[in-house]
This record gives sequence, structure tokens and C-alpha cells, in this order.
Amino acid sequence: MKPRIAIMSRKGGVGKTSTAIHFAAHLAYQGQHTLLIDGDDRGYASTWARQGGMPFEVDGVGGLMRVGEYDAVVIDSQADPSEAEITTLGRNVSQIVLPAVPEAQAVSGLAQTVGVLDRAGVPRERLAVLLTMDTRVGTATREAREALEGLGLRVLGQTIRDTVAFRHASGQGVLVHRVGNTTGKMAWLDYETALRELLA
Ligand SMILES: Nc1ncnc2c1ncn2[C@@H]1O[C@H](COP(=O)(O)OP(=O)(O)O)[C@@H](O)[C@H]1O
Ligand SMILES: [Mg+2]
Repeated sequence: MKPRIAIMSRKGGVGKTSTAIHFAAHLAYQGQHTLLIDGDDRGYASTWARQGGMPFEVDGVGGLMRVGEYDAVVIDSQADPSEAEITTLGRNVSQIVLPAVPEAQAVSGLAQTVGVLDRAGVPRERLAVLLTMDTRVGTATREAREALEGLGLRVLGQTIRDTVAFRHASGQGVLVHRVGNTTGKMAWLDYETALRELLA
């Protein structure tokens, strides 16, 4: 099945747009004709990609009419989607990625979105949690993973490290490995591994 991946979360600032940009970039570099749909009115993904140089195309929600023309489609969504929007997206994509920051509140934040998807009849196999902004110190990530798995959710083994490189990347309109620091390159590889795991 052709990847149609929706990035979704009712919380803002959890790494949705960063995930959409980097998943779309990896799919494109793998040779897939890729469309990123910016489903957020604020247009952060479009602004990020505006400088050009991205290996994928970007469109607004109007692009949903043309998904058939692409090998791969990634949809970035707004922070506060309605139940109807969650339901429609959930039913029409092959994968739903739920980015979450490894902290206690992540669990309650996700439970609500998952409840809507459950009621819409979206199969749980379609969902995967991606832990972002992982500082990789202490036990927060392990605890968040256990709590989310306790809800019956698939949590990707690969997390995305916490690095300021993402802020530089969006500010400069480039991908995170183009920011001149090592953690940016490592974070780029985190996304590559997470995507491979998602599609496996
Ligand atoms: N892995 C990460 N580590 C550190 N900061 C990150 C990471 N991913 C995203 N950010 C930063 O966090 C903020 C929110 O990220 P963004 O992708 O815009 O989230 P959302 O789309 O969910 O609001 C941005 O400033 C972004 O640069
Ligand atoms: Mg966003």
C-alpha cells in the first residue's frame, strides 16, 4: 500500500510539523514522488518549506484532491482538530502517527485523540506513537512508553532526540541535517529509522 501518513495530535508543540517535514523528506529521498499537505491554517510547514530546496512538494488541504498523483503523502494537521476532522483523516490514511513528548501529560493528551479514532472505527494497527524531544536522560521516556503501551498503543522503539537543531532548521527553512551541527545529523537519522519502523 502507498504510504498516506497523517501526523496528528490535539496538543500543539509536540513535533507534528517537524515530523511531517522529515518523514516527507526521507520518503522523497527514497525515490518516492512525495506530497506534504499542510493542514494547519497557520501554515508552519509551508513557511518552513518556502525557501525551496525541499525534495517533496507542498500544498494546502486542496492537495487532498490530488493524492492519487503521488507515491507518498504526508499530512501535517492543526493542533486542535475537531472530532469530524480526526474521524475523516483517520479513515482515509494508511498510517496515523501520534507524536508525543515523553512526559506524564502525554498520556492523557493522547487518550482523547485515540478515543475519537476508536469511536470512528479506525483500526488500532493504523496508529503509532512517536516520542519526540527525547532528552534521553532519566526515566521519563521509559515511563511514558509503558503508560502508552498500557493503553494498548503501539509506540515506536525509535524516538527523536531533543535538539535545538530543529528550531534552527525551521528558522533557516532547511532540513535538520543541513543545520551545521552533529546532533542535527543524528536527529535526521532518528527520523529515518522511525520511518522505516513505521512502514515495516
Ligand atoms: N526533537 C526535537 N527537539 C527539540 N525541539 C524540537 C524537536 N522537534 C520539534 N522541536 C521544536 O519544538 C517546537 C514545536 O515543534 P513543531 O514541529 O512545530 O510542533 P507542532 O507542529 O506539534 O506544534 C518548534 O520550535 C520545533 O523547532
Ligand atoms: Mg505544527
